[in-house]
Amino acid sequence: MPEKFKRYTITSALPYANGPIHIGHLAGVYVPADIYARYLRMKGEDVLFIGGSDEHGVPITIKARAEGVSPQVIVDRYHEQIKKSFEDFGISFDVYSRTSAQVHHKTASDFFLKLYGENKFIEKTNQQYYDEETKHFLADRYITGTCPHCGYEKAYGDQCENCGTSLSPLELINPKSALSGNVPVLKETKHWYLPLDQYEEWLKEWILEGHKNDWKTNVYGQVKSWIDHGLKPRAVTRDLDWGVHVPLKDAEGKVLYVWFDAPIGYISAAKEWSEKTGKDWEPYWKDKESKLVHFIGKDNIVFHCIIFPAMLKAEGDFILPDNVPANEFLNLENDKISTSRNWAVWLHEYLEDFPGKQDVLRYVLTANAPETKDNDFTWKDFQARNNNELLAIFGNLVNRTLVLTEKYFDGIVPPVTELDEEAKATLEAMKLFPGKIAQSLDRYRFREALSELMNLARLGNKYLTDSEPWKVIKTDEDKVKTILNVSLQIVANLAVLSEPFLPFTATKLQKMLGMEKPVWADAGNTELIKPGHKLNKPELLFERIEDKEVEAQVQRLLDTKKENEQAVSAKPAKEEITFDDFMKTDIRTGTILEAEKVPKTKKLLKLKIDTGIDQRIVVSGIAEYYEPEKIIGQKVCILVNLAPRKLRGIESQGMILMAEDADGKLCFVAPTEDFMDGSEVK
Ligand code: MF3
Ligand code: ZN
Repeated sequence: MPEKFKRYTITSALPYANGPIHIGHLAGVYVPADIYARYLRMKGEDVLFIGGSDEHGVPITIKARAEGVSPQVIVDRYHEQIKKSFEDFGISFDVYSRTSAQVHHKTASDFFLKLYGENKFIEKTNQQYYDEETKHFLADRYITGTCPHCGYEKAYGDQCENCGTSLSPLELINPKSALSGNVPVLKETKHWYLPLDQYEEWLKEWILEGHKNDWKTNVYGQVKSWIDHGLKPRAVTRDLDWGVHVPLKDAEGKVLYVWFDAPIGYISAAKEWSEKTGKDWEPYWKDKESKLVHFIGKDNIVFHCIIFPAMLKAEGDFILPDNVPANEFLNLENDKISTSRNWAVWLHEYLEDFPGKQDVLRYVLTANAPETKDNDFTWKDFQARNNNELLAIFGNLVNRTLVLTEKYFDGIVPPVTELDEEAKATLEAMKLFPGKIAQSLDRYRFREALSELMNLARLGNKYLTDSEPWKVIKTDEDKVKTILNVSLQIVANLAVLSEPFLPFTATKLQKMLGMEKPVWADAGNTELIKPGHKLNKPELLFERIEDKEVEAQVQRLLDTKKENEQAVSAKPAKEEITFDDFMKTDIRTGTILEAEKVPKTKKLLKLKIDTGIDQRIVVSGIAEYYEPEKIIGQKVCILVNLAPRKLRGIESQGMILMAEDADGKLCFVAPTEDFMDGSEVK
């Protein structure tokens, strides 16, 4: 398997600079990327590990508008914060750049121009919503209106957050501009498209055939499904005034689409690194003997496996990714991590709350990495992994070995006097670990690699416990010399092999052992520290994490939940209406007679209701909360004089009244007693 590469270009997804980093980002992208980069450097490989902030895109402009500041203010704030928290956490970027940098604007705009000059784009003019008051074309997110599928009134131009359907702005009923509240008008606008359909055959050959066996199945599967559905031209420009300006004459007010410019940011970052270090960036991006690996989360797969490669292919000068080991998502305490709901463990807060414990989080996120499926982070698991694994296995071996050496031999490494069977077998077993760990890392199996590292510590613990040096010392000091020598070799091997995973711990341990900075090839050596060598004073590598520390974290999350609920229950009342306005609504009590799921929808049920006046069909977005079989006979309140609407081809005649809580959970609003159908609700 290991083909030999001359150098490695490792990229990690550029986080949007509109919020801090959380554990989901870390587990999905930055921790595995960092382990990989550190491992390769220890092997003596030539590595360029790239990171940076993604500073364009509509959400950043929305946040800026909400705060009444310019987008630059927002990205400056978060870029600095993110950069610092990565540094403090030990993510060993060779460069951490940003897409608002001049070098990036130039690189991205040259990239566009080259493709433009070689006729790699198609130009299309279409109609787009325009706000005449603010003189802006409206990005999808800047248009709200009623969802044609579920009737939700605050759907966005790209998606309805109520029923999850993805939309185009033209589908919205009663569209409104989020800038002015006005009704937008349609206006012609020209954009440039990358004709992905023309790359379909090539993508099939390169990925579907070429990477069938070495790309992760979750990545390969997603790519295959995109390609199987057929690729369409994708616009690479937008009407927006924040981003990299389209470098053409007739393109005023247009910028490159954020997903066009951001991945080019990886290249710009290499140039920035080159300016700083005086080294040449080009081989890292252009030499076929360089291995390019993109670390990303699963929501970025299409951009890194289809769109960016097509861009690179069109450009022609650059290498393509050798692998894209994307991860699935990490949840937090059984709930999706969400920035807007503040449901996250933020890196900068963790670093404050658990100073010096970077490796604990690195360990937990790797041991529980969402490599093949979504996983859950809980504070209880965090505590247990620290106390029962790091402390009780790794820390315990190191501590026992060093303390006993100090006690019996004044901290001087004793010689092997006679290699008995157990000692021999233990050393033989130890020699296998570097190979096992390397093999897992080469295949991007970081959890597996970490669990092998812990198995090495287990091997040491078992050997030490079985050999009982604390008893043997009374009768056979020579034998204890061998026992501690062997244990020390395992500890020294751990000091080498743990470095990619637990760099702070490894450094501390190397100091305690008085070791030089090791390289990967040192591992497996059964004489890594020589007899007669004086060790430094042992210190504790890990501390117990007490209940109260994790309880405080859980409490913080519970408080967040409460705040979110209150924020919603405190929603201000709608505009005042008159009594007559209210009396226009005709709400009746009724009963559900029949219920079935609307095919191919997640949320919709088709209900037959007895309204007392008649029997009629209503389509209702409650399928996530009620099983059809269980609501037959349910009493309801129904708005009976609502104009009929078609939902998924079914005419819905009225609306069932539902209460909705902070989480969007629904519940029937209905008479509390058996009440006659058709009674008026006033
Ligand atoms: N900012 C994007 C996200 O957080 C990732 C961009 S990766 C890049 O999803 F390559 F395009 F920069
Ligand atoms: Zn909807």
